Amino acid sequence: MTTSRLPGFYNLSINERLARLAEAAGLSPDDLSAFRFEGGIDADAANHMIENVVGIHGLPLGIGLNFMVNGRDVLVPMTIEEPSVVAGASFMAKLARAGGGFRASTTEPLMIGQMQVLDIANLQKAQAAILNKKAELIAEADQIDPVLKKFGGGARDLEVRLIEDSPIGEFLVVHLIYDVRDAMGANAVNTACEKLAPHIEQITGGRVHLRILSNLADRRLARAECTIPVDELAFNARDGSETRPYTGEQVRDGVIEAWAFAAADPYRAATHNKGIMNGVDAVVIATGNDWRAIEAGAHAYAARSGRYTSLSTWGKDEYGNLAGSLEMPMAVGTIGGATKVHPGAKAALKLMGVKTAAELAEIIVSVGLAQNLAALRALATEGIQRGHMSLHARQVAIAAGATGDMIEKVAAQMVAEKTIRIDRAEEILKSPGNR
Ligand code: MEV
Repeated sequence: MTTSRLPGFYNLSINERLARLAEAAGLSPDDLSAFRFEGGIDADAANHMIENVVGIHGLPLGIGLNFMVNGRDVLVPMTIEEPSVVAGASFMAKLARAGGGFRASTTEPLMIGQMQVLDIANLQKAQAAILNKKAELIAEADQIDPVLKKFGGGARDLEVRLIEDSPIGEFLVVHLIYDVRDAMGANAVNTACEKLAPHIEQITGGRVHLRILSNLADRRLARAECTIPVDELAFNARDGSETRPYTGEQVRDGVIEAWAFAAADPYRAATHNKGIMNGVDAVVIATGNDWRAIEAGAHAYAARSGRYTSLSTWGKDEYGNLAGSLEMPMAVGTIGGATKVHPGAKAALKLMGVKTAAELAEIIVSVGLAQNLAALRALATEGIQRGHMSLHARQVAIAAGATGDMIEKVAAQMVAEKTIRIDRAEEILKSPGNR
């Protein structure tokens, strides 16, 4: 039985953290050994993944603590270069835990493949002809991936859309709806569309041009909700020697007002959603999934009404507690792609004890909601810079050439002085006693 509550984790060395992590997740240290080598992958393995490989690009891998998703404790691997993200998610997961953790769900893993049909003499007639042959076309597409079929996936539906207003005039688009089970699904769907295209041409007398999956995966949604007991939100903000107390009600209302800004204004919504993606992408990357696909789906979904808006909602429940939800497309897989060849990604899935793509999606969307709350809470109270400052100061200290104990020393001095700049870090490093 995994516990995601690891008090004092922050104070341990990397090796101690790894040992504690394995113990907490009921794994052997070997299960997580891929986390130890840089990037979780060696150059030989990388050489098989893409072209012209000359090396590996490393990013920090941290652990999101305190997460409870659908009653299960989960330790969340997060790959990200930005300070405060892992700490913010972990802290909000702790608050959410006091309200029972995250409740998450997914729709069926249905992906959409698109076929663009051009040069049709009579669009209405062609549309009717395709729909007439729908059962036949679905049956044909269903045979294309026997492995997916074996696991219960396959073609589910076929729709025809008329695009009336385009720079090249009218044309038809056929949507193939495909259940991809635990795969991300791009390969299966692209193959199915390519195979089906000649049959569509024969039926319509037209020309099938593009045959490709849509990243607006609005049939494959993940949703998370949480309730934060209002008293848990109370805290004392510190600014130097001054303390400013915030009541739970003040923080709750501040978060709701911050969300309303994003709900109403695309300029704010873009940043608000970026905060959500800080958490989402970190887990997507750690598990070897395609974060560009997730980004594309998220922002297209956020604009589905015709006006770009917040992916999340925040309000208060009947007891005055803060209630949040996040719904977005989540085309992630636990089989195929890098998830099965990248040793670090495999270890990440193992750490979470995730067996299905749906479980992974539920965790990811919970992290996104936690991350959103971390940002809104900070913005609605003490501002984002205070939390960022000490970690940012460390990065500036490293950039200035600090190593070992000097990193903390230089960072602490810059924070105390409220001057976090590389020239100041260099001065501190050169000052007598620090050389
Ligand atoms: C920074 O990476 C993310 C935030 O800007 C998100 C937000 O403004 O909600 C803090």
